[in-house]
Amino acid sequence: MDIVVSGIRSTGKLHLGNYFGALQNFVKMQHENHCYFFIADFHSLTTHPTPQDLHGSVKQVLAEYLACGLDPEVATLYVQSDIPEIPQLYLLLNMNAYMGELERCTSFKDKVRTQPNNVNAGLLTYPTLMAADIIIHKAHKVPVGKDQEQHLEMTRTFANRFNRLYNVDYFPEPVPYNFGKQLVKIPGLDGSGKMGKSEGNAIYLADDAETIRKKVMRAVTDSGPTAPNQKKPEAIQNLYTLMGVVSQPDTLKYYEEQYNNCTIRYGDMKKQLAEDIIAFTSPIRERIEAILSDNEYLRRVAKMGAEKARQSASKTLDEVRHIIGFREF
Ligand code: TRP
Repeated sequence: MDIVVSGIRSTGKLHLGNYFGALQNFVKMQHENHCYFFIADFHSLTTHPTPQDLHGSVKQVLAEYLACGLDPEVATLYVQSDIPEIPQLYLLLNMNAYMGELERCTSFKDKVRTQPNNVNAGLLTYPTLMAADIIIHKAHKVPVGKDQEQHLEMTRTFANRFNRLYNVDYFPEPVPYNFGKQLVKIPGLDGSGKMGKSEGNAIYLADDAETIRKKVMRAVTDSGPTAPNQKKPEAIQNLYTLMGVVSQPDTLKYYEEQYNNCTIRYGDMKKQLAEDIIAFTSPIRERIEAILSDNEYLRRVAKMGAEKARQSASKTLDEVRHIIGFREF
């Protein structure tokens, strides 16, 4: 069985894009691989959350993972900061991570541009921490989006460099986990691009019905098709793509026909889309709320996850320390 590691920054709630792009696949993946799913709370410190915000968002993400169907008995579900072996491996990897390659990393360069007054060392070494997350379990595969491919590539560089430096065949080369064609890109509601937290165009799993209705009704459209069977502009196609994942096939077909014969009323379509999104997210939202109110359960899940993750992590760290040359007297 392959070892799979995936982390999510604990900086916010999950949206439909996260669900269809990742979570839905994680739920299947957990039965076919040895999966480690964790909440990257150390990584979130690069943006200096308040103590309140830090714990609150970790708790929210854990509850949402569980509500989406990740099974803590099947996968290993844990909080990054519960595993002291990760920062230790991070320290060791940093000794062989070079300033030049870290500075060349696209995500770092973006941060330098967008937040010039908070270019901290944690941002610079974000890729070594991520590498530590992954190779601490000697992972084979990592489900990553486009924006994380470079980080995973750097992970391979660090893993290979360690093997070469110590002349061992210790760390496997982690490759992207490929979901294949099943992966639908979930668009936002603002007419272009994908759904994202920072884009401000997201529908969250935890949004209530009224919020969802408001967001969908505000979605960008145009003045409608002027000839039969026109190609849909991006903003319109986005509504159909969303409908394709949450609505019944007949509903989608009905609105496709309306578009193709130019009788479409976007207002009606949006009302339907909003109700279908609500029907889809409501059971998840209810589970999120139930889990959030059961602190004892969350505590048990986090504790069990940390124990399982530390078993694997401490074995790796012991072996790495030995390879490097640390010895007991
Ligand atoms: N950098 C990832 C992101 O921003 C989160 C992350 C941290 C991660 N450590 C990881 C993802 C390890 C996969 C594996 O989305």
